[in-house]
Amino acid sequence: MGFMNTRDLAAGIAAAVSAAAPLLAADAQSPAAAAIEPWMNPRLSPDRRADLLEAAMTPEEKFSLLHGELGLPTKTGRAVGALGSAGFVPGVSRLGAPPLQESDASLGVANPLNVRKGDGATALPSGLALASTWSPQLAYAGGAMIGHEAFAKGFNVLLAGGVNLARDPRNGRNFEYLGEDPLLAGVLDGHAIKGIQSNPVVSTVKHFAVNDQETGRAYLDAVIDEKSLRESDLLAFERAIRIGKPGSVMCAYNKVNGAYACDNAFLLNTVLKGDWGYPGWVMSDWGAVHSVKAAANGLDQQSAGGIDEKVWFGDPLKDAVKAGDASQARVDDMVHRILRSMFAVGLFDHRASPGLTLDYEKDAAVAEREAEEGCVLLQNKGVLPLNPSLRRVLVVGGHADVGVLSGGGSSQVIPVGGPALSLKVSGGGDDVMAAFRYAVWDPSSPVAAIKAAAPDAVVEYLDGSDPALAADRARGADAVVVFATQWMIEGYDAPDLSLPDGQDALIDAVASANPHTVVVLETGNPVTMPWRGKTAAVLEAWYPGARGGQAVADILFGKVNPSGRLPISFPERLADLPRPVVPGADLPSKSPFKVVYAEGSEVGYRWYDAKGLKPLFPFGYGLSYTRFAYSRLAVRGGTGLSVRFVVRNIGDRAGAETAQVYAAPSGGGRRLVGWSKVALKPGEARIITVSADALALAQFDLAHGRWRRDAGPWTVSVGASAEDLRLTGSARMTAQTLAP
Ligand code: BGC
Repeated sequence: MGFMNTRDLAAGIAAAVSAAAPLLAADAQSPAAAAIEPWMNPRLSPDRRADLLEAAMTPEEKFSLLHGELGLPTKTGRAVGALGSAGFVPGVSRLGAPPLQESDASLGVANPLNVRKGDGATALPSGLALASTWSPQLAYAGGAMIGHEAFAKGFNVLLAGGVNLARDPRNGRNFEYLGEDPLLAGVLDGHAIKGIQSNPVVSTVKHFAVNDQETGRAYLDAVIDEKSLRESDLLAFERAIRIGKPGSVMCAYNKVNGAYACDNAFLLNTVLKGDWGYPGWVMSDWGAVHSVKAAANGLDQQSAGGIDEKVWFGDPLKDAVKAGDASQARVDDMVHRILRSMFAVGLFDHRASPGLTLDYEKDAAVAEREAEEGCVLLQNKGVLPLNPSLRRVLVVGGHADVGVLSGGGSSQVIPVGGPALSLKVSGGGDDVMAAFRYAVWDPSSPVAAIKAAAPDAVVEYLDGSDPALAADRARGADAVVVFATQWMIEGYDAPDLSLPDGQDALIDAVASANPHTVVVLETGNPVTMPWRGKTAAVLEAWYPGARGGQAVADILFGKVNPSGRLPISFPERLADLPRPVVPGADLPSKSPFKVVYAEGSEVGYRWYDAKGLKPLFPFGYGLSYTRFAYSRLAVRGGTGLSVRFVVRNIGDRAGAETAQVYAAPSGGGRRLVGWSKVALKPGEARIITVSADALALAQFDLAHGRWRRDAGPWTVSVGASAEDLRLTGSARMTAQTLAP
């Protein structure tokens, strides 16, 4: 929860921290009482139901839906009826309209500053871990699980669906998002949203758009040409919305091409509601509204209005309508959009109320499966999998004795039963997220899981604070596993690509003493690895969630064969990035500045292609304990691109391969156009057919305002990463135009 306006925040947070926060009942209006009302007829369309209800509302009731309140206590008190979460919009109980109880976020049901004392939830692995699974099924399962937990806790809106593209590997919120590719990110986000909304819980998709760094997020103007924007950041949203049909879109803090994202007629009216025909409502990010004219420019609801300079969508909007500066028709449209989504997702027909019993074991198993498939094996000189009959194992660092790290900010999930460890992290300056600077470890101890996996071993743990001691103990160990962490939090970008707190030196010292050293990374972002040549194996575990320690140990000991693939390129050095210095990092806080995205749609691997640079680890990369062979490519073009090939497991273990299909028009850059993840037993082969995504083969035609594919030849390559291409073919495509 970032608040631009800090007036009430300090007091609010103090109140939140000290309040016992008893859970309040949700809107007491019973659905039965309202069942006789015509809008309660579930056979009518959501639009019809919304019309009927809106017709029964007074002007005052309509305006009450257009702005929300903080769901946390503030110095002026707590919103009556709010459960204690990011946001609350009172319902219209006279007519049976439930309040909106809004909770963060994509990784589980948050509990900001523990305002609902002790109310833990199941933490999914980070967004980058999910993206590393390349699995729409796991995205859906995770979404369905957290949506169910939200519902059971009384929430009917989950502020989830973060899909900003990873344009900068230092972005403080990449861990909430799904990587650098608009196809992979958009498809996975769409399925996660669909999973959430398989419950009567509205999901957002956020932060619309180009909120691609945290430094100065409320003060920066993201500058990018329209064609590139449509083909990159907006394309991820377009896909997520098409697949997931989120009830709401959350607009971002930053400006895009000169206008605030929440007051941006191009983004909201032209693209989202016009070109894409989006029928739901646009809610603002918290503290992202600057004027009443945002309504005309497409914003439908001001979230937590009290933290903006004014509750713009209260009296100022009423006055503007009276004065003829804003139209009543637009106000009616805003109300309609909110109600329509509430009906479409089932908020009237199935009321959320807190206190349903949850099966947290079952939910943790969902998180565990995601972690198993989301860890990416980056290097293995034959040391992994570890032998369970090891005698002496040394584990160093990362608080691996107690748990696994998670990311901070509004998406922070407080684990069930409380954190294994919570450490105050200094710094933060005058940023409002400073109050959230606690690093939280989920209670899934890697050391305990390693002990269970190697029952006869003596497993020693050192915290890593003394590199010389760690190196000394490493010398006599059969296996050494160093856990290295990089804590990221909303509101702040990483200063560079290095592991913080001297961990590079620690790893170097340990690996110099024992060449069989395995490094497990729990990072929010890619990091550089100056010690890589000295270590035997590197496993990127991201923030692996509620059962992360177990999942990591199962991979280390080969119970699970790693299958994660990078959804984000790992750079070799800062100088290779489009912006070697984070824009705005050297400015006094609250200074306005521009971030010029001159790389356009050449994000991630496409940037490396365009510049002829080699990343440390490429997009799509990840090792397995088995090997896969590719053969028999057949490519069919014409109106659609169909790519067929065979993948065979040629190793001696069962494993899963993510076969990736890239395509490039003649003279143009390549893009990921599809993929298939396939589980194969040793020796097993499978014929795989991938139908390329139509928009991935098109370009945005500005002159005609739609997608277009020219007739011509395309090169198609199939492989195990953006750089490990095993098969190449070509096809002629016919011309095609597609809706915007
Ligand atoms: C974040 C949003 C979040 C909101 C409510 C903002 O700071 O950017 O992602 O949903 O707070 O907590």
